Amino acid sequence: MKIQFRQEPLAELQTPALVAYGFEGAGSSQGSVERLPAATRALLQELQTSGELSGKAFECTLLHRPAGLKVERLLVVGAGKRDKFNLAQLRCLAGTAVRFLRARSLHELAWTLDGAAEDVEVLAEGALLGDYDADRYRTERNGERRIDTLWLAAGGAPAGEAANAALECGRILAEAQNFTRDLVNEPANSMTPTLFARQAQEMAGRLGLECQVLGPEEIQALKMGAFMAVAQGSEEPPRLIVLRYTPPDAPPAPVVGLVGKGITFDTGGISIKPSENMHEMKTDMAGGATMLGVMRVIAQLKPCVRVIAVVPATENMPSGKAYRPGDVITSMSGKTIEILNTDAEGRLVLADALAYARQLGCTALIDAATLTGAVTIALGNITTGVFGWNKEWVNRVLEAAGQAGEKMWALPVDEDYRELYKSPIADLANTGGRYGGAITAAMFVGEFAGDTPWVHLDIAGTRWSNEEKPYRAKGPTGHGVRTLVRLLQNLAAGK
Ligand code: BES
Ligand code: MN
Ligand code: ZN
Repeated sequence: MKIQFRQEPLAELQTPALVAYGFEGAGSSQGSVERLPAATRALLQELQTSGELSGKAFECTLLHRPAGLKVERLLVVGAGKRDKFNLAQLRCLAGTAVRFLRARSLHELAWTLDGAAEDVEVLAEGALLGDYDADRYRTERNGERRIDTLWLAAGGAPAGEAANAALECGRILAEAQNFTRDLVNEPANSMTPTLFARQAQEMAGRLGLECQVLGPEEIQALKMGAFMAVAQGSEEPPRLIVLRYTPPDAPPAPVVGLVGKGITFDTGGISIKPSENMHEMKTDMAGGATMLGVMRVIAQLKPCVRVIAVVPATENMPSGKAYRPGDVITSMSGKTIEILNTDAEGRLVLADALAYARQLGCTALIDAATLTGAVTIALGNITTGVFGWNKEWVNRVLEAAGQAGEKMWALPVDEDYRELYKSPIADLANTGGRYGGAITAAMFVGEFAGDTPWVHLDIAGTRWSNEEKPYRAKGPTGHGVRTLVRLLQNLAAGK
């Protein structure tokens, strides 16, 4: 999608579709509709009086050859209540306009720009995210319906340097988020651990990140007994993906470790999952895909902070070689783990990946994982669960999430839950039962972060959207990428 500024006055602009938004109950007196010529606003006022135009969030009203304008069409998008409006909502409005217009076979639109450079960033994001469809494997692709050009109609004022930078920033973020969505959407037969690692290598090579991929012998040599236990049931060899971003002028600390669960398919192993919905477990590498998306952004935006991403990638399969319930394994950290359920595999691969990230010198750790069904019971598909002992780091993540417009919520960790994953014969058991399942899973993972500040994001619910939204296709979301980028930018800025 080409995104460019247009300078002519709105009344002179010629384009297939101009988009403006207005608020609920505010008529044409607030929102970007305010910038339209008087004749156009009078028209909108009439529609509002007759009850055809309400301004409710995401309401789309398409007018042909509107009075006062030279455009072929005017799309008025409802922005909802004025006092609830923010950049996150603006991002969604841009996506809504894109999806509405391309469904009507339009390929070009102009957005009535109203304000600051930060608007430009979210508009670019919203448009690019809204234009995404997980339709790679459809022979009759929706892709033919995509938007080719988005004009940002500044209505006279020349686009400043800040606006251009914001546009570039928005594009980089949204394209990385869509890259993550593509990885998550890919079926397990074309996203084996080997192919996943190849994607990482290719991206890193293109953008100048350091990339290292370890195979089974090297993983074994590192004594990653927990990771290898999960991997041993699969015919597909595991991969440990390591990406490094080391800006020359960055201080030696912090070194932020981004650890992403990379289970390319989770059958549950010997504790096999029911077949209903098992196909969804192709998305069990979403944490890893999130971290690759974040690395892709920072390779381009270059914040001044050191980052290492570690993604343990494997399938979790049942077979004659698979690990069993009752097995006791020794993790890289030396802690022993009794396996009670082979379907609690995510925490095992994360245990060794966190230990490895610490060995590589990370001074702060964040993991993202589709870790538990329990978190989806608690928070649904809307909100990511955030866990950690270090309040400062948890708050940093929550703050970044707020800034990035992604919903995240802290759930507790507490000593009292430790009881639940004790083992009579080993240091830990790999499950803590159904009650508080998201918490015990998170705390299990945290046992391997040692005394390094650590935050865990359980994205099992938010990785995927089962419903189509006006501004977003159903399917993979890429949730988490923007928050982590923002966190790293805040750190780099010394915030
Ligand atoms: N990958 C699953 C969690 C999951 C569930 C992700 C639904 C996305 C959607 C994870 O490996 C798993 O199977 N967790 C078990 C843990 C249990 C055995 C303690 C779960 O949540 O049921
Ligand atoms: Mn599982
Ligand atoms: Zn899993």
